[in-house]
Amino acid sequence: MSDIAKLQIGDNSYEFPLVKGTENEVAINIKTLRSATNGVITIDPGYKNTGSCESAITFLDGEKGILRYRGYTIEELAEKADFLEVAYALIFGDLPTKEQLEKFHNDIKSKSVVDDDVKKIVDAFPKTAHPMGVISSLTSALTAFNPSSVNVDSEEDMYNSVVKIMGKFPVLVAWTLRKKQGLPLNYGSKSLGYVENILKMMFEQPNEDYVINPIIKNALDKLLILHADHEQNCSTSTVRIVGSSHAGLFASLSAGISALWGPLHGGANQAVLEMLEAIKEDGGDTKKYMAKAKDKNDPFRLMGFGHRVYKNFDPRATIIKKAADDVLNELGVEDPILDIARGLEQEALNDPYFVDRKLYPNVDFYSGIIYRAMGIPVEMFTVMFALGRLPGWISQWKEMRLKKEPIGRPRQIYTGENERPFIEIEKR
Ligand code: ACO
Repeated sequence: MSDIAKLQIGDNSYEFPLVKGTENEVAINIKTLRSATNGVITIDPGYKNTGSCESAITFLDGEKGILRYRGYTIEELAEKADFLEVAYALIFGDLPTKEQLEKFHNDIKSKSVVDDDVKKIVDAFPKTAHPMGVISSLTSALTAFNPSSVNVDSEEDMYNSVVKIMGKFPVLVAWTLRKKQGLPLNYGSKSLGYVENILKMMFEQPNEDYVINPIIKNALDKLLILHADHEQNCSTSTVRIVGSSHAGLFASLSAGISALWGPLHGGANQAVLEMLEAIKEDGGDTKKYMAKAKDKNDPFRLMGFGHRVYKNFDPRATIIKKAADDVLNELGVEDPILDIARGLEQEALNDPYFVDRKLYPNVDFYSGIIYRAMGIPVEMFTVMFALGRLPGWISQWKEMRLKKEPIGRPRQIYTGENERPFIEIEKR
């Protein structure tokens, strides 16, 4: 293939260089398009054909169902690594040595204390507040308690800000849940691992010692790994674009959390459970809801099915389906919601509407089921997604700042009124 793309506009032709990635993905570099063509731009709502950056963090191939972080397959990472190792690899580029991992974990623990005044902010939220709104606000509030901005040219400063947010974020997540449940706000223990501490902080009761269930710990480890990064999705692009204005790390993350909240993105795991509950309340007739999902006059969509980039299968869904089966079997969970989920899954996998459109269960179809079995309230599901995505957002923000990317500022094609005279209010 030549390394030039040719574009013909009217009588004029232009040439643009091709950019090739390490997995042979090809892009047309149109950096000079507007200046060379006297104002012509491209338009691509939803950015389905637009690469916003070159990135060395995550590779995914939606057609082949491949997902790799820093070159390691998601299957191998989910089987052999723990979440903190994966976080380290995403943020610093390679899997850590034992010493590096231990130092990373110790530094995270030493930075996990949150200013006690943050408790007043937690207290001020009504118990009914959606946890995603709370966690986004608390993450943004961290900026007020840690006002010095990160010096991106200092490796030490970058490292410190990474361990600070990796330490404080799980505490804020646990406090968000505990506030909702009227439990005292707590901290982790120095002797526990990163994921073990997440469980302890979330579920510890004031009058008993918290005992870690290894099945639950392993399932949570896997879930967090599977969600840790997914290249330039909506929330990650948000983190990068907010950070591109040189807003701070915590402010950029807070914006990413808001982007994740929506039901077409991270909110899907909550939407899946709500959909299953609604089907149960309505008598459990899955066929009726399959018909609704296929009816173009009905806005209902089968939540947890379909994906913007995975058009054959979601490799994360394969891993997590097995973890869901293990957790449910080992914990002996019997739940009518699960029967409805299994019924919908089977019907969709055999229905031409879903098969023809390549709509398969995505990771969120199963993650909500595991979170429910773990005893995590539905409204916290997307917060758990944010907890997993944190290292991905951090690494993408870090990459963007270190590459000194320009401020993100798309253009538009204006379709409004042409210039017209102002009419005084009395005459309108
Ligand atoms: N139920 C019924 N029909 C669907 C569904 C669904 N869940 N998803 C897509 N379709 C149909 C569309 O109506 C469309 O049909 P048409 O070609 O006859 O018009 C076709 O499949 C293609 O759908 P698009 O919306 O164009 O696909 P897109 O890639 O833009 O959207 C998305 C992907 C947003 C994930 C979509 O599949 C969806 O809304 N799914 C449900 C929500 C969900 O589970 N989101 C989680 C995503 S995973 C994540 O964020 C981690």
